[in-house]
Formats: sequence, C-alpha cells, structure tokens
Amino acid sequence: MRALLLNCSPHGKQSHGYRLAAEAIATLVQSSGSGPACEVLERDLAAEPLPPIDRGYAAAITSHASDTAVFDWSEQLIVELEQTDALVINTPMHNFTVSASLKLWIDHVLRIRRTFAATPEGKVGLLRDRPTLVLVGSGGFHSGERARQPDFLTPYLRHALGCVGISSVQFLLLQGLTLGDDAVAAALTTARRELARFARIPRMALFDAATRAT
Ligand SMILES: Cc1cc2nc3c(=O)[nH]c(=O)nc-3n(C[C@H](O)[C@H](O)[C@H](O)COP(=O)(O)O)c2cc1C
Repeated sequence: MRALLLNCSPHGKQSHGYRLAAEAIATLVQSSGSGPACEVLERDLAAEPLPPIDRGYAAAITSHASDTAVFDWSEQLIVELEQTDALVINTPMHNFTVSASLKLWIDHVLRIRRTFAATPEGKVGLLRDRPTLVLVGSGGFHSGERARQPDFLTPYLRHALGCVGISSVQFLLLQGLTLGDDAVAAALTTARRELARFARIPRMALFDAATRAT
C-alpha cells in the first residue's frame, strides 16, 4: 500500500495542516498492522515547485501530440498518483482558493487523453478512485457561521480531482489560523475530532482496495 502526501504550504513542516496530515498518515501506517506495509511518498510542492506550464506543454496539449518530452514532469506526477492507494493533500487557502503550487500540480496531472477523456457528455476521469484527505488551512473563516469570505477552494479541488476519477474526497478545515493562539488551538481541536470521526472511512476504503488488489 502506498500513500502520497502533497504538502503545499510555504510553512513546510511547521504548517498546522501538515502536522495533522502527518498524524493522519501515522494512523494509516499503524492501522496497516498485520496487513500490507504502508509506504509513504512525500512531495513538498512549495519548497520544490514544479516547472511552470510553458509554451511547449501548452502546444503539445492542444495539438494532440503524445510521447513528447514536454510531458516528462506530467507523466512522472501522474504515475506517482496512479501508484498511490491513498492521497493526502495539505493546502493553505491563498486568496480564496488553492495555493499556486497545488494549482501547478493540478495543471500537470489533469491531462486530456491521459487522465481524463473529453466526451460529448463532458470530461470523464481515467484514473481509479482512491481515498483522499484534504487539509485546508486558512487565516480566516470560509465555512460555517463565522464565514466572511467565499470558498472557491473546496468546490474547485473536489471538481478537479473528480475530473480524473478521484471522488472519495474528505476535507478537513483548519480555520482562523491567523487569529491568535486560542483560535489555532480551537481549530486543531475541532480538526482532530473530525479526523478521528472519519479517519476510519479512508482507512476502510484503503483496505478494501488492497484486498481487491491481492
Ligand atoms: C498569499 C496569501 C493569501 C492568503 N489568502 C487567504 C485567504 O484568501 N483567506 C484566508 O482565510 N486566509 C488567507 N491567507 C492566510 C493563510 O491561509 C493562513 O496563513 C494559513 O494558516 C495557511 O496555512 P499553512 O499554515 O498551512 O500554510 C493567505 C495567506 C497568504 C500568504
């Protein structure tokens, strides 16, 4: 079994979301117990940014070219995802949506004729579904009674992942992270409670996937 952790926070391992993501993955690894070992691959997309989408990539996408070197990065990231049984993403909210580093990963991974097909009915994902946990850190509130800003992050990311076939997505919100220590403590308490509630869901799905594979 393999888990892929994408850390998109410029705070790196100091990010609250990253720490919770690490806790979630530790639970996953422990819970594998006597089952198949769980290997974790980590990618820090903020510290090691992906190359931007350049003219060659854009031209290759729109000219139906394939097997070209411009897709090397895209291919590597897609294969990494294909080999993953569980996906964990930690992203801050940056200007109401995902971080630029995560957007770039999305631009490399959502590739027409490779990870999704364009059909008369719309885009159809070509990857298999896998349990996915997304931790979202935000300075203010974008969900619930205290929300004072729009949330273009969660609907967008759900749609983008769904486009390639990943629909088993759980979001864990860490809100109010710039509002002082008490607010951070409250966000972490709420998030840990949520994590305990649904950590079971991806784990079970993961085991189901592993059982089917054997
Ligand atoms: C460029 C930038 C844009 C941001 N935009 C928002 C925003 O739109 N809404 C919000 O609530 N917080 C925003 N923040 C605050 C971050 O979401 C907050 O610092 C959060 O803790 C980041 O999570 P992290 O610690 O995991 O990086 C922004 C921060 C930066 C640096």
